[in-house]
Amino acid sequence: MNSKVITALATPNIAMIKYWGKRDYTGLNTPNNSSISMTLDETLNTKTTVMFSDKLDSDKLYINGVEENIHGDNVSEKSKYIKNTLIEMRKLSGVKENVVVVSENNFPSGAGIASSASGAAALIYALNEALELKMDGKQLSIMARKISGSACRSVFGGIVKWNVGSHDDGSDSFAEMAFDVQHWKELIDMIAVVDPDTKKVSSSIGHEATVRTSVLYKNRVPFAEEGVTKIEDAIKNKDLDSLSKVIMRDSNNMHATMLDTWPPIMYLNDSSKEIVYKIHQLNDSQQDKKCIAGYTFDAGPNAHIITTDEHKEEVLTALKDVQGIKKIFESHQGVGPRILPENESLLDENTLTPKKMK
Ligand code: PMV
Repeated sequence: MNSKVITALATPNIAMIKYWGKRDYTGLNTPNNSSISMTLDETLNTKTTVMFSDKLDSDKLYINGVEENIHGDNVSEKSKYIKNTLIEMRKLSGVKENVVVVSENNFPSGAGIASSASGAAALIYALNEALELKMDGKQLSIMARKISGSACRSVFGGIVKWNVGSHDDGSDSFAEMAFDVQHWKELIDMIAVVDPDTKKVSSSIGHEATVRTSVLYKNRVPFAEEGVTKIEDAIKNKDLDSLSKVIMRDSNNMHATMLDTWPPIMYLNDSSKEIVYKIHQLNDSQQDKKCIAGYTFDAGPNAHIITTDEHKEEVLTALKDVQGIKKIFESHQGVGPRILPENESLLDENTLTPKKMK
């Protein structure tokens, strides 16, 4: 086996119509509804280095300098899925050696900024290259989906649609690019970080609990499916008013089903709610009453505000007095994952541990 050291970079995506609720909980992560997202540029990114080596007695995973336990029964669902993916991709390639994975985010993990999406996409991309599997976009997307559903959309750049699919084995549930970055390159996601800490309820637990207990949830599925078509139309026509409205309605609808979960799941905090009001005020103050920005929240309190370059300053002014905003990131659409040059490796090849061990 070649002991190539491969490093990949991937970026998060922000869903404009959200995936919430799975139809399979055995590791396929197939969703109940289609979703559509914008892949972010490299302002926020995950870098992941992999190396297969006969010097390793088991697979090792380091995230942000800390070793994660991926072995045994007592591990998180995400760790279990990562381990299964390592096993599956290794089997496909015929390679026998164990692998060390070193992954770093340049932004807060687990706070609803989709670190699991960029993390999973970077891992799959690096493994595909290291194992010389030559998977195409569809195969990479399916593989990323098995680690974290929303990650299947981070395999592509631009505006990305994840088709719900219907096959039991998940073979028709994968993402595709709907519009490339150039189509509406002025789109921007302004991410107001109000709490960088890890969310209280993991999305894995949330997906299952909402589907099982929320009485509102059954209405969400057709609503989201219609929403995807509306977003596609709005993006095709570069219609910011319609895009903003559909994005906000979908986020509110998903968070309503979360609140309707028993026991309730509440990801938004007071600053998040203040941002919601400020964006409505901003939109209402437009002379023609057309929306110029739309907020959306994933499984966390941090706000993503979708607007265009033209309206960026107005959005920043609207957010100026909101208490609790710690930082605002700005991201245009990104082009998707890429392999980085060798000198960007995160691995110390002598010790087979991260270069910067915490
Ligand atoms: O991919 P997961 O299991 O972390 O689920 C994430 C779901 C949301 O971020 C809330 C919505 C989405 O479509 O990204």
